[in-house]
Amino acid sequence: MQVNRRTGIDSRRIAFDTSNWTKDDASPPSIEELSQTYRKVGVDLAAAACFDAIGEACIQAMDITHVVAVTCTDQGNPGYDLHVCQKLGVRPNVQRTLLHGVGCAGGLSALRTGATLAGAESQKGRPARVLIMACEICTLFWRAELLAASLDDDVHIAPALFSDGAAAVVLCNNLALEKQQTPIFELLECGSMSVPETRDHMSYMIRNNGLIATLTKDVPRTAVSSITPMLDSLRDAARTPRQCDPWVDLEPTKFDWAIHPGGAAILKGAQQALRLSDDHIRASLDVYRNNGNASSATVLIVLDKLRHMGKGRDHIVSTSFGPGMIIEMCILRRCHSKENLPRTALDLGWKVHPWLWMQSRMMRLMRDIKGTRQIAEKKHNTSFVL
Ligand SMILES: CC(C)(COP(=O)(O)OP(=O)(O)OC[C@H]1O[C@@H](n2cnc3c(N)ncnc32)[C@H](O)[C@@H]1OP(=O)(O)O)[C@@H](O)C(=O)NCCC(=O)NCCS
Repeated sequence: MQVNRRTGIDSRRIAFDTSNWTKDDASPPSIEELSQTYRKVGVDLAAAACFDAIGEACIQAMDITHVVAVTCTDQGNPGYDLHVCQKLGVRPNVQRTLLHGVGCAGGLSALRTGATLAGAESQKGRPARVLIMACEICTLFWRAELLAASLDDDVHIAPALFSDGAAAVVLCNNLALEKQQTPIFELLECGSMSVPETRDHMSYMIRNNGLIATLTKDVPRTAVSSITPMLDSLRDAARTPRQCDPWVDLEPTKFDWAIHPGGAAILKGAQQALRLSDDHIRASLDVYRNNGNASSATVLIVLDKLRHMGKGRDHIVSTSFGPGMIIEMCILRRCHSKENLPRTALDLGWKVHPWLWMQSRMMRLMRDIKGTRQIAEKKHNTSFVL
């Protein structure tokens, strides 16, 4: 209860109307029911995000060459991305890749995978228009967490942080850029890294009633301490004899930061370690406060929020963390005008889903929860609070 009150989250977006839940609704649904719910709610939500991103990129669904999707809240086969593709009407021979097992890091894992694919197409002299989607319905597992909390008597913090959401991005290589398109960001560098001896710090494991998250108290420290080594590694990778972009010598305070808002402790820790003001991480703070943590989709939502928050600094570091523990990071440059368009074969321009438009869709599909609310009392006098 206390953790829930102190998360710093004012409201979250969730796929279910819990207003009428009683004690009787506390039992977890069957795995089959959970999967069916994802296949309906999650697929609709992801398709809405993709549809909008494709529209903003000024292309048709048939123009998409690759799809990279990620989720950690659905395990069914065929993957949810196939259902989304069929709803969108992409070509049957679109090259699909579905990522799993990367948790909250997933939005940037998908972006990195998409960038690698687009770069490979550039090498072959072919255009690439990669649709990237992340969709999580974390609240499917709230009741499984409730049951687990009542049995193990541990503090389960995930239900106090997690929410539902989807985001989509169209990423293209320079060979696919048309005159009418102005990319929002240029993706300069990206990479990932696993942090040694942290495998037990964070997990999202299948139990009888669904997925149960383990987030140990070590997570914020581990996540924050991995940021500087990851940034240094990207700087080293960018210092090639052929090209050395000016960003490699920038101090952390010269970037805008789109940090995955996994929890208040991560954001505060990153601020202290890197000497960042609230302004540097303004989009992460905003998304955390108003949306909570929708796992893999969140970091893309943060980037989308950032682009709507005015001119900002030219370069952006975006980073997210997942089970492993792993850190994902990418460096982006804002495209202010046509002159900023990618020039070399390996530079990638990308468009991000217009989250604000999507929100109006989400209001129809989802319900906001504000503050705390006790939904059920369990044995041992423990209670589970949303
Ligand atoms: C959950 C959180 C928002 C709470 O904020 P806070 O109240 O300011 O944080 P504190 O660290 O002071 O913790 C408050 C209480 O929660 C407990 N707590 C914090 N993290 C916990 C965890 N991971 N598991 C169990 N209990 C935890 C603390 O022990 C403390 O309890 P106490 O008062 O009985 O000692 C913050 O700890 C956080 O952001 N944690 C990181 C969440 C995370 O791992 N996210 C990753 C998802 S990708």
